Amino acid sequence: MSSSPSAPHTIGVFDSGFGGLTVLRALMARLPRARFAFLGDTARLPYGSKSRRTIARYAAESARFLVREQGAEFLVIACNTASALALDAIQDAVPVPVLGVIEPGAAAARAASKTGDVLVIATDATVRSHAYVAACQALGLRAIEKACPLLVPLVEEGWTDHPVTAQVIDIYLNELRAEAAARGFNPDALVLGCTHYPLLRTLFEQAVRPGAMVIDSAESAAQAAVQLFNGGATALAAGPAAETEVRCFATDSVDKFERLGSTFLGRPVGDVELVDLGG
Ligand code: DGL
Repeated sequence: MSSSPSAPHTIGVFDSGFGGLTVLRALMARLPRARFAFLGDTARLPYGSKSRRTIARYAAESARFLVREQGAEFLVIACNTASALALDAIQDAVPVPVLGVIEPGAAAARAASKTGDVLVIATDATVRSHAYVAACQALGLRAIEKACPLLVPLVEEGWTDHPVTAQVIDIYLNELRAEAAARGFNPDALVLGCTHYPLLRTLFEQAVRPGAMVIDSAESAAQAAVQLFNGGATALAAGPAAETEVRCFATDSVDKFERLGSTFLGRPVGDVELVDLGG
């Protein structure tokens, strides 16, 4: 986070796809009178299997679009992969404050965990960056990370309550628990370190051990954004989220965005506008 901003009127929210609408939904619930511009870089999704250099280039282009063309005065990087690998590149690309989701997610894990041991699931690129382990360590937590690459396509397919998805989650969590046991960890919290995973929250809550907390990085990021405005957000905080002004942009698959995006956002996304950010 580059500085401590006063409450912005236009907030840009960026994700590699439309999973980041879960972050927008959490922001709208807290700041219903702000204007939001959301960009899903659907043409170049997934970021989670790409290199740092490519992710940084895509994310910087997307950030510039939100600031230069949509007038965003504050950016929330809803994408965990872009937050983990490209936050510096994004901050260098735009002259507005930028908030990522990694540190708020780690802070929520710190607040939830009694044992000090947590599990983090994320994309392959986020796990390879070890951004969550570093953020957790800075708060005195031990973390074990695992890449769960099958979950993003399952969510993009709309299989958020499907037996196959539940089975895939069980397999990933069993592998993670086996590793935790082998390394002498006693985890009591699971961080959902990917924009898409909050859509599977019910399945995760059914799959974790009784008493374990499931941490939603979308909620944590929205809370952190509001706190950053130093109480100046009061003017933006009153009113129904149903009336909040939102414009959604995608670099591809507008139809699918409109169809599935409403589930992620909890209300109709409206007409999604197609933008071309280059290759
Ligand atoms: N938005 C990405 C994240 O939160 C998941 C999808 C992708 O791989 O691009 O890590």
